[in-house]
Amino acid sequence: MSLSIAVVRERLPGESRVALVPETAKKFAALGASLRMEQSAGIESHFLDSDYADVSLVGGIAEAYAGSQLILRVTPPSAEEIAALPEGAVLIGLLKPFEDKARLAALNARRITAFSLELLPRISRAQSMDALSSQASCAGYQCGLIAAARCTKFFPMLTTAAGTIRPARVLVIGAGVAGLQAIATCKRLGAMVDAYDVRSAAREQIESLGAKFVDTGVAADGSGGYARELTAEEKAAQAEKLTKAVAMADVVITTAAIPGKKAPVIITTEMIGRMKYGAIIVDMAAESGGNCALTQPGEHVIANDVNIHGPLNLPSRMPTHASELYAKNLYNFLSPWIKDGEMNIDWSDDVVAGTLLCKDGVTVHSVVKQVMGEA
Ligand code: NAI
Repeated sequence: MSLSIAVVRERLPGESRVALVPETAKKFAALGASLRMEQSAGIESHFLDSDYADVSLVGGIAEAYAGSQLILRVTPPSAEEIAALPEGAVLIGLLKPFEDKARLAALNARRITAFSLELLPRISRAQSMDALSSQASCAGYQCGLIAAARCTKFFPMLTTAAGTIRPARVLVIGAGVAGLQAIATCKRLGAMVDAYDVRSAAREQIESLGAKFVDTGVAADGSGGYARELTAEEKAAQAEKLTKAVAMADVVITTAAIPGKKAPVIITTEMIGRMKYGAIIVDMAAESGGNCALTQPGEHVIANDVNIHGPLNLPSRMPTHASELYAKNLYNFLSPWIKDGEMNIDWSDDVVAGTLLCKDGVTVHSVVKQVMGEA
């Protein structure tokens, strides 16, 4: 019997992505897998059932999951969905491994082998599987567009018969994957862009996109290429230098994050008090608490005539390409282990081992175990 892969419609409110797109369905089928998908699972990403020529369509979750060996998801399964998973099945998705102890326990109770793509090692070999990066690119792009659409100024310089318009001034704080995409998007729209990050490598990347690096004199390189949390003294030095840059900006886009931690608060209420009237803040970190002190996740608030946007699930605003990239990440992760309709995973592979959340009834990822109090 060939490897049986299942996909259902994502049910989290506001989620419009899907884990399987017609192109990757075709590729899995070419590896000998059989695919089952809940009807209309791709519809919110604008993939019609009829586009999935290689997939059997079924009526609901129970039918899709029954007897399947490999389950592809975007978001973590709910308690009801976990109950429908076949015992011992392999599950892969963005499973939010640090969020919910009960969910982890439920996965272990059903002896699910779960891969959580947030845990994927950020090494060169794994770049094609890096769902955090692919989705962060979508999110950064969306931040640039939200900022441009909400800004009461043109982004580009315009020379008109009535006179010349100066370009809008954008400040991007946090220049990881999302921040760099936000910089690139704002540059393409013609804005003058300044950007800042605490990692030393970021300066060159910011400048390579034609933006100006804001030097606060604070460098905070952590482990694995990520930033570390700042000390109280570093935070004060950063705030002093950034206050001026924030005050000069028409738009501030914030994307700063520390893996597994609450987002650092970088824009204080005092800084907002010094901003231009009508300025815009787009806080991409809203989901993990926000980089701006006044951000309300999922809301638009106005303080001192500054518009503070805290958008959530930005990749879902462009579900066709976000799903396409995500589905390719899944295919690139899984395809080396599927041949002639059989899945044989090499558990000693670095990327496999680094991404493995739980197996045979126990949580195996050491950092997750520690954070979730299982160590
Ligand atoms: P992230 O989403 O965890 O954080 C976003 C950015 O916020 C980071 O650039 C971080 O340095 C910055 N930040 C944190 N605290 C800050 C503060 N107080 N002030 C200003 N900025 C702050 O990061 P992301 O985008 O997931 O990636 C971070 C880095 O990981 C990349 O730039 C790269 O070095 C590495 N990476 C490597 C990959 C690979 O080799 N496969 C793929 C993707 C990322």
